[in-house]
Amino acid sequence: MTGDKGATVNKSRRRFLVAATSVVGGAGMVAAALPFIFSMEPSAATLAAGGPVEIDISKLEHGQLLTVGWRSRPVWVLRRTKAQLKVLSAPNPELKDPDSDEPQQLPQYRNSYRSIKPEYFVAIGICTHLGCIPTYRPQIAPADLGPDWKGGFFCPCHGSRYDLSGRVMAGSPAPLNIPVPPYYYSSDTVVHVGELKNGSEQNWAPTTW
Ligand code: FES
Repeated sequence: MTGDKGATVNKSRRRFLVAATSVVGGAGMVAAALPFIFSMEPSAATLAAGGPVEIDISKLEHGQLLTVGWRSRPVWVLRRTKAQLKVLSAPNPELKDPDSDEPQQLPQYRNSYRSIKPEYFVAIGICTHLGCIPTYRPQIAPADLGPDWKGGFFCPCHGSRYDLSGRVMAGSPAPLNIPVPPYYYSSDTVVHVGELKNGSEQNWAPTTW
């Protein structure tokens, strides 16, 4: 049984490598890329959980949120408006971790937008309290969230509040910012989620997975 299981894992790994090298690019790149990719080989658990996904954002309009499944979790892509970006660029003393200093956050996204391109916010849509899915609430000062609400994400389970960069606000039971997964742009309109461009971080998982 152990041998069969091992063979299954190896086959999965081979499939992953084919996929990974085709992502890296043309045939000329394969020989150079293989040693590097082997050193970044994902764990069996990661393979079972699912490889990277590509998300087409070409039809996403300003202010819209797109949700796509990855490893049984929702991945959000929010295309923020100019007004939303302006709110995020201002200091906000209500944030628990404004600079994303707590563990689980990749250094590439430690800015007020928590993203590569300010306009697009990519995140795992789970609340860091107990894993509910927060709702996107872009309205300014809606009756149920109060006059200070400037748009963000609200978790209906126990009331955690996040800004439009997924940064958790003081007074929320959630301890951490919403996690941003490893990703990069494979073209102007396609986001590749599940690893960084150099093939690293394939085993990434947030503290509150
Ligand atoms: S799970 Fe979101 S506030 Fe508790």
